[in-house]
Amino acid sequence: MNQDLKKENSAKEAFNLIEPKLRKDSVIGIGTGSTTNFFIQELNEAKIQIKGVVCSSNASEDLIDNSYDKFSLNEVHAIDFYIDGADEFNDRKELIKGGGGALTREKILAYSSDQFICIVDESKHVGLLGEFPLPIEVIELARSAVSRELMKMGGKPIYRNGFITDNGNQIIDIHNLPIEVPYELEAKINNIPGVVENGIFANRKADTIICAKANSIEII
Ligand code: A5P
Repeated sequence: MNQDLKKENSAKEAFNLIEPKLRKDSVIGIGTGSTTNFFIQELNEAKIQIKGVVCSSNASEDLIDNSYDKFSLNEVHAIDFYIDGADEFNDRKELIKGGGGALTREKILAYSSDQFICIVDESKHVGLLGEFPLPIEVIELARSAVSRELMKMGGKPIYRNGFITDNGNQIIDIHNLPIEVPYELEAKINNIPGVVENGIFANRKADTIICAKANSIEII
């Protein structure tokens, strides 16, 4: 089974899981990335009666069918379900996200949600987070200063050349960074002036991980 089919299966499972729980006043948070796009496809086809959606990126918002009302986070009281992919997850349901560069809004939406359901295929499972380069969103003028701090921590920063986030900032991807205690490193990196957000999701980790394998789906 190819990876896209697994991503699609995971997204369908998430939709089937939440659909019976949705009400007319429910708000769904929509992540970013190829796995989330399969979830958007399900949602668009189903045209269910909910209050609306809050999206973590302009790209996802563009894909949502116009039959759904699209809100900013400021316009809703809470997000009932936040559905998003990940670049890596561990057994504690801690994640690395931000491969698509939408990590800041993704983390805000995850934090504001009652239920964070992470949809992945088995290739995203790791023992220790950090094989995937850790994305960090930075204010442009702080890029080199932040990079130097990350080098002191043992990482190798690479500037994501030509990429600007939906918030107008830049991304550096940190290779070879040892992420032994994810929630500690998450806080430590966010303490560096100029860092907007980093892609470790440990303080607000996933509540449920739906992991598609070749012949089965594991719900963790
Ligand atoms: C977007 O910024 C990321 O956090 C994505 O959620 C992550 O990169 C997973 O993407 P795929 O679903 O495309 O693998």
